[in-house]
Order: sequence, then structure tokens, then C-alpha cells
Amino acid sequence: MQEVLRIEGGHELEGEVTISGSKNATVALIPAAVLANGPVTIVGVPDIADVENLAVILRLLNVDVVRTSRDHLIIDPQNMVNTDLLDDAVSKLRASYYFMGALLGKFGHVRMKMPGGCPLGERPIDLHLKGFEALGATCTEEEDGSYTIHADELVGAKIFLDISSVGATINIMMAAAYAKGRTTIKNAAREPEIIDVATLLNKMGARIRGAGTNVITIDGVNNLNGCFHEIIPDRIEAGTYIIIAAAMAKEMTINSIIPAHLDSLLAKLRDMGVDMEVDVDRVTIRHSDRLQGVDVTTMPYPGFATDLQQPLTALMTMAEGKSHIEDTIYADRFLHCKELKRMGADIEVLKGEANINGPTPLHGARVCATDLRCGASLVIAALMAEGVTEITNVYHIDRGYAEIDRKLTSLGAVVSRHFVE
Ligand code: EPU
Repeated sequence: MQEVLRIEGGHELEGEVTISGSKNATVALIPAAVLANGPVTIVGVPDIADVENLAVILRLLNVDVVRTSRDHLIIDPQNMVNTDLLDDAVSKLRASYYFMGALLGKFGHVRMKMPGGCPLGERPIDLHLKGFEALGATCTEEEDGSYTIHADELVGAKIFLDISSVGATINIMMAAAYAKGRTTIKNAAREPEIIDVATLLNKMGARIRGAGTNVITIDGVNNLNGCFHEIIPDRIEAGTYIIIAAAMAKEMTINSIIPAHLDSLLAKLRDMGVDMEVDVDRVTIRHSDRLQGVDVTTMPYPGFATDLQQPLTALMTMAEGKSHIEDTIYADRFLHCKELKRMGADIEVLKGEANINGPTPLHGARVCATDLRCGASLVIAALMAEGVTEITNVYHIDRGYAEIDRKLTSLGAVVSRHFVE
């Protein structure tokens, strides 16, 4: 038996949806909190499976973790023990790699399994390890595939990232927080989640400057305290609901967002002919009769997010003419296209790119969420399709979309969960 998300398509949607705290910020903020020597309260924590898995890892480290009201997480690392992280929880998500930087920074030592995460093709961590080594650590791959990273002393260094990796930038910031002297990261990633992590660390007492630009400096400190921090809204969840609105809404308002984080998506949707009104912290989308095909190339922030190319592919199937997507971050992030084709889409996938011919009416089918954003793409397609769609591997969707059933139902969608053979 397996769980499926069953969606009856074709219903017009209307209303308002409130966006949760950013998943990709949260999964870094939680490991960052263990660098403190007192309790850290994080507000706006989304109700997603990745948070549950990180809480399992925290408990393995003897860190107290309590979810107070619905979205407050109190992390108290005062009785923390630096245990080897060889548990399966580590391989359930990619972001467990942030414990490398956090534990190395705090204890000078970490042993852990390789992180898991969505199958998007090859996802190496060489830049993270190179950064740790520049700070004075040695990184050893053990026979069981786990990593031991050790430093007698961490000393600030100048680090140039060959690729502006989000994960490597955050991991180096965490490892360098207590290092002796100044660390400079050049060609750092500029994603909003990096600013959020730097903000948390600075509230704890770290001295990080330049987050959000491509040069970040970290001056090591001797102590980090507990603090209170509210997470930024999830720009990818917001983008997903904006695309849902463009596809199926009479009128829909997406609330509690930072529209500037979504500029590249909003510009592309305007090119497609989507009718929108952007306010300080919300976007309202109104029904448009005809959408036009567009070309999209994914880029590091502030370019078009790779995490939104899969959801946008679903919308492209209803646009007039040819659309083209090139993913420069993950050349193999096109598994969703095979599933969309099973629902009637006309898509040709080449290496690192796809051509979508539209409009093509979609029909319900049983399809598989091969990864998180593939799942989002299939949810959008299912809402658009005639008939019933059953999405398998729902756990991928639950890793990143808080309360998706409730949010969609409140907008008028017909969504339910079932166990099937
Ligand atoms: N890369 C390397 N070596 C490294 C690290 C990265 O070659 O050591 C390459 C990657 O293979 C990729 C590129 O650099 O081609 C950028 O990867 P990055 O390190 O920025 O990705 P990440 O930090 O592992 C985060 C998000 C992803 C998102 C990417 C790109 C988290 C937990 N994950 O991954 O989110 O796609 O940045 O923006 O923050 C998702 O939310 O669905 C998701 C996959």
C-alpha cells in the first residue's frame, strides 16, 4: 500500500493563501542554532517533514528541541554532545550537511553520513569540503561512505568558490563563526536564505558582513548566545502558489511574501500575460484568458530559480506556442517532464533543457513525484487537468510544502489522500 495525493482537476480557485516560513532557510537555521551557547527561538517554522528529520538529528546530539505554539521552535544546545551522525535521518534530506559546518565550527570535529535529498543528478559537496580545508580542517571519507572532518584549530582564510553554491556559502559561514581571525568568501551565493542565516548568526553575536552580496566576511568570535529569530517567507512556496493562481484562479491573493524575492518569476509571468497586482507583502493574480509561451534560463539568485522551473513547466503546457527551459544549475532536473507527458503534455527533453509545445489539455493520470518540485509541478498540472490525478511518492511534497492539502482545499481545490495498491 502506498499513499497518494488525489486531486480532482478543473475547479476554478479563489481566495487567499498565507505562505509559510522558508524551508531552505529553516533547514539551515536549525543546524546554525547549535552554534549558540543558549536557547535559540525560531519563529515561523514550517510544518514540513524536513523539520521533523532535523529535530531527530538534534535529539541524537542531545539538543533540547521543543515546538511550542504551532510555528515556534526552541532549540537549546546547552547539554549538547557531539555524537557521530550515522543515523538514517541524516540521509533523508540534503540539508543535514549543515551539521558539518555547525559541528566543525563548534567542536572542531564531526563525523556524519552523506546527506540525502532530491535526486537532481549529481550533487557533490566538494566546495563545502574545500572551504573547511581552507579553514584548517582535514576531511576524510571513511570506508562506510561517511565523512570525518577534524580541525585542531580553525583559522580564518580567503576562500573563492568556483560555483556560487548556497550550501557551501552557508556551511563556510557556520564553520568560520568561531574561527580565529577573518574569513572572506568570494563568489559567495546571494540567495535570501543566506542573508537569513547570517542575520540569525549575527543576532547570536557573530560578526558576518556582506551576506546577500558575493563577498562575505566573517570575523571569528569567542562566544555565541541564544536569540529570537523570525524566518523569511518561503519564496519557492510563494512562487508555486502564484503559478497555481495563474493557472486556475479567478482571483487569488498570495499573502505574507517578500515580492522582491520573486522578481524573476513575476517578470516571466508578466511576459506570459498573467494579470497581477503586486503590493508590499502580497501578490494578487486574476484570471487571464490566453497565456504566451516564454523562454526561461535558471540562474543563481536573483536569476530565475531552478526550484521554480519545474512548477512553471506545468503552466507552460497551457501557454500558446513554444516555451523553452534551460536549467544551468541542475542539468538533470527534468524528471517531471516524463510525468507531465503522461498527463497529455507535449514536451521534448534534451540534455539540460526542454521544449514545451502548448496549449495541450491535460488529463488525470497516476503520476509519480520523483522529487519535491516535481511534486509541485504535478500538483499544478493535476489542478489544471480534466479528471482525477493520483500523485504517488507524496512524501517528497510533504518535505517542502506545509499544509498543502488544507491550503489548496481552502482555495476551492478538491484534494484528498488515500492508500492504494
Ligand atoms: N555544487 C558543486 N559542488 C558543491 C556544491 C554545489 O558542484 O560542493 C554545484 C551543484 O551541483 C549545483 C550548483 O553547484 O549544480 C549549485 O548548488 P548549490 O550548492 O547552490 O545547491 P544546494 O545548496 O545543495 C540549495 C537548495 C536547493 C536549490 C539549490 C539551488 C537547500 C537545502 N537546497 O541546494 O533546493 O535547488 O540551492 O538554488 O537550500 C529545493 O528546495 O527543491 C532544492 C533542491
